[in-house]
Amino acid sequence: MLQRRKFLELSSIGLSAITFSGFTSKSGNPAGKKPIVISTWAEGLNANKAAWAVLKNGGRAIDAVEQGVMVTENSQNCCVGLGANPDRDGYVTLDACIMDEFSNCGSVAFLERIKHPISVARRVMEKTPHVMLVGSGAQQFAVAEGFPLESEKLSPDAERSYKKWLEKSEYKPVINIENSGNNLKSQSAFAPNKLENGDWNHDTIGMVALDANGNLSGSCTTSGMGFKMRGRLGDSPIIGAGLFVDNEIGAATATGQGEDVIRICGSHLVVELMRMGNSPEQACKKAVERIIKIKGDKARDIQVGFIAINKRGEYGGYCIQKGFNFAVCTADDSNILVDGKHIL
Ligand code: GLY
Repeated sequence: MLQRRKFLELSSIGLSAITFSGFTSKSGNPAGKKPIVISTWAEGLNANKAAWAVLKNGGRAIDAVEQGVMVTENSQNCCVGLGANPDRDGYVTLDACIMDEFSNCGSVAFLERIKHPISVARRVMEKTPHVMLVGSGAQQFAVAEGFPLESEKLSPDAERSYKKWLEKSEYKPVINIENSGNNLKSQSAFAPNKLENGDWNHDTIGMVALDANGNLSGSCTTSGMGFKMRGRLGDSPIIGAGLFVDNEIGAATATGQGEDVIRICGSHLVVELMRMGNSPEQACKKAVERIIKIKGDKARDIQVGFIAINKRGEYGGYCIQKGFNFAVCTADDSNILVDGKHIL
């Protein structure tokens, strides 16, 4: 009897080891992998490399997702970090949030002149009894924590874009609509020059990871909508909207028009849909469908994309319209860009 019980215990350990190391999958989806990191847009490829350096050495997912998106925050040619487009008054304001396997979370919003909002968000999580700090209070906290106050000067690209935008000062915010055939009119109406090279209308990097110990974490960081109203926040710093992690189920993050992600508590919805048995891709698709149902014809004027991973290391993404992609890394030599499936 004892031997039989022992055999059953060993079998179940063996089975779960096989499931989690990627040889098989209970759900019938492509086999999951562990560790794994995925992130939004082509910028995610570089961010994934930094995250992978942590994950491949057995590091925690929370460290991976912080270090990963710091790469994008550092870049000067992206819509994340201090090099990004300013608001319509000419100031770059940054939003970020982070969440770990214990449901600890931290967030900063409307933060100015700080290079790494994601790291400030992590300090909020670890060093304060709060989840969210905003504006001058967030900046004051960052400086007290030793983050240098950077110059207010716009990056050369952002300055060029802003000057061009000022010529008309039209307030027609559109995010992430670049490659779709649906919205060429919106593109030229709003985006000053970033869309001409197809590179600069991305608003956000969201990243979710599963580490070798089977723990999930996520991060999300953005400058928000270019030329937004001063004080406007999107989904990215909002836990449950731009990012959500439930270590029993999965993790999800969003990019695109934040107002419409907030409306459906998008990332939380994706995780809850996975809890109900949906694969990451199915869950992302259903969340996108919910936005389209609410927006009706106006869905053609917006872009939203979700990406998600589950506890088995399966991943997926979905978006409203063509043009969204995400980066998936499961090994040193496997960091690939995947086109998001789209509905419209
Ligand atoms: N998804 C970023 C924003 O709406 O600000």
